[in-house]
Amino acid sequence: MNTLLLDANIPADVDLSADLLQAGKLVAVPTETVYGLAADATNPDAVRAIFTAKGRPENHPLIVHVANKTALPRWAKNIGVEAYALVEAFWPGPLTLLLHKADHVSSVISGGLNTIGLRMPSHPALLSLLQRHDLALAAPSANPYKKLSPTSAQQVMAGMQGKISAVLDGGVCQFGLESTILDMTGVKPTIVRAGPISAQAIAKVIGRPVEQPRHHHAVVPGNVKAHYQPEKPLLCFSREELLLHLPLLDHNIALLHVSALPETTKAYRFAMPAEPVEYAHRLYQTLFTADQQHVDAIWCELPPTGDAWLAVHDRLCRAAYSPS
Ligand code: TXA
Ligand code: MG
Repeated sequence: MNTLLLDANIPADVDLSADLLQAGKLVAVPTETVYGLAADATNPDAVRAIFTAKGRPENHPLIVHVANKTALPRWAKNIGVEAYALVEAFWPGPLTLLLHKADHVSSVISGGLNTIGLRMPSHPALLSLLQRHDLALAAPSANPYKKLSPTSAQQVMAGMQGKISAVLDGGVCQFGLESTILDMTGVKPTIVRAGPISAQAIAKVIGRPVEQPRHHHAVVPGNVKAHYQPEKPLLCFSREELLLHLPLLDHNIALLHVSALPETTKAYRFAMPAEPVEYAHRLYQTLFTADQQHVDAIWCELPPTGDAWLAVHDRLCRAAYSPS
């Protein structure tokens, strides 16, 4: 299959993306978080093709991306006032809500669960595509299963070329890290994936605390320990550990660091921002670039801790996870 590279700044290209999607094809689309691998959510055969293209197990549920806030009752049922308040506060934007699935929604999307993940993305080209063509798109991140999520069209192409019909190039993603996922189906609202919208910001809107497990368990298929992984092994170190090893490092190691290092350090260095939003924005892109160098491994100095860094630590932990 020849994968078309389309330009989100050209209206005819956006329309062509919509035509392809409506014809049941797969198109990678830009979002403000990471690129999504999209199919028409009302077409179960098209949605099924996502799992094949990604190499993803079929019981891993997908997020449905909707065109506007009023689409909520089309996809979910028993929606409480808190969910509506969150939609008012954060949509369009990087918050995915897990709600009870409406009866007609195909279980291909929900991986057989009776819940559904919904979000309204804010990327202007994607919003215009959704709204002008009255579409809803099922889309996981546009990477092969367990690999790094793509934050640019070039990164999508590197992993998906030949497997999908087109990539709509909408530039580099604003956040660069996946959306916050909030489960609203239980007794307590619970964050199941940390992301750009914090537990505190959510708690402020709904007026009660939000659970934020420090260690995400594999409570749902898809929430796995090894995820977002570069090809080369990734090893994380505290600054103290790193300083001990520094004199031994050579050019065969790529090193992502936040603190200043001696000029004599030989590793292939990538200076990372010491601020969490900017760090998140650059993380996947930098890991992708580091992965492509002639290095044997990627080392990463652990960034600061604290609530604002939760999502970054979560992704680093999974990217570095090794079962052995
Ligand atoms: O920012 C994002 O959320 C990106 C962009 C493309 O929107 N999407 C994304 O999708 O990261 P994906 O499939 O790579 O990750 C979504 C995760 C899955 O791993 C799955 O565990 C969880 O969301 N999920 C989706 N629907 C769910 C459901 N009904 N119940 C529990 N978990 C669900
Ligand atoms: Mg993903």
